[in-house]
Amino acid sequence: MGRLSGKRALVTGAASGIGRACALAMAREGAELIVTDVDEAGGCETLAMIAGVGGRVRFHLHDVACEEAWKGVLADLDMLHVLVNNAGQCIASPLAETTYEVWRRQLAVNLDGVFFGTKLAMPLLARSGAGSIVNVSSVAGLKGIAGLSGYCASKGAVRLFTKAIALECAQSRNGVRVNSVHPGAIETAIWAKMGHGGSPPADARRRREAMDSARAASATATPLGHAGTPDDIAAGVVFLACDESRFVTGTELVIDGGVMAG
Ligand SMILES: NC(=O)c1ccc[n+]([C@@H]2O[C@H](COP(=O)([O-])OP(=O)(O)OC[C@H]3O[C@@H](n4cnc5c(N)ncnc54)[C@H](O)[C@@H]3O)[C@@H](O)[C@H]2O)c1
Repeated sequence: MGRLSGKRALVTGAASGIGRACALAMAREGAELIVTDVDEAGGCETLAMIAGVGGRVRFHLHDVACEEAWKGVLADLDMLHVLVNNAGQCIASPLAETTYEVWRRQLAVNLDGVFFGTKLAMPLLARSGAGSIVNVSSVAGLKGIAGLSGYCASKGAVRLFTKAIALECAQSRNGVRVNSVHPGAIETAIWAKMGHGGSPPADARRRREAMDSARAASATATPLGHAGTPDDIAAGVVFLACDESRFVTGTELVIDGGVMAG
């Protein structure tokens, strides 16, 4: 028996990086997966990987910032056990150069997306009798980082939204736990996107340079001396998703190689 056998889990932003690793890890633990993303090609790759390990899975093209899109994804579900609000965008931009569009885009995806998912999936999670919501925040939701004000604002808001909803659920005794995960530097495609307005540079050499420079900066800034992997985050997400964490709600799980320790 896997730790998530008999459970149905939905992961947003599952076409790459942390979301893909979470979906795969939960499938390996026996969960049925619904994976969603705006990236159809990447989402289909994740679907094939999960099917390849024998998992039951379906993919939805889904913009988390769109309430109607959420309603479409959830429409044919009678019950849900786990929701991982993972989809995110990070755009490096000093305040003076931050347009309202860039500010709004990060809040729309990183914060509004978590709000829509949490609100609209809550009745399905409550119906399961033991639901779990895991919101992927960041160390940038725990401390300020120069040049990432919009991202920090969105991830800090996710942290406290998580705690408030955890208390609402506890008060109502609806059986749903709500926690946040705070990754430090994790090597994913987001590194190549963040310095380029949220999309990776088209040129392969520039993408490689962006990844190399972020890897070097992460190694210096991380007490353990290197960046983490998406699987490091997936391990924490599986714990919060499954019944081993049945007494854990409203907490923040920091997985960061020691960054927040000092
Ligand atoms: N990689 C890190 O160093 C790091 C650190 C802290 C937190 N995080 C957070 O982890 C989460 C996953 O990021 P990642 O590192 O795997 O990056 P990633 O870029 O590999 O994955 C993010 C995924 O979100 C999807 N996405 C973006 N906008 C979307 C939208 N509007 N609707 C649906 N999907 C959308 C992308 O297509 C992509 O597949 C994000 O919330 C990110 O902020 C990452």
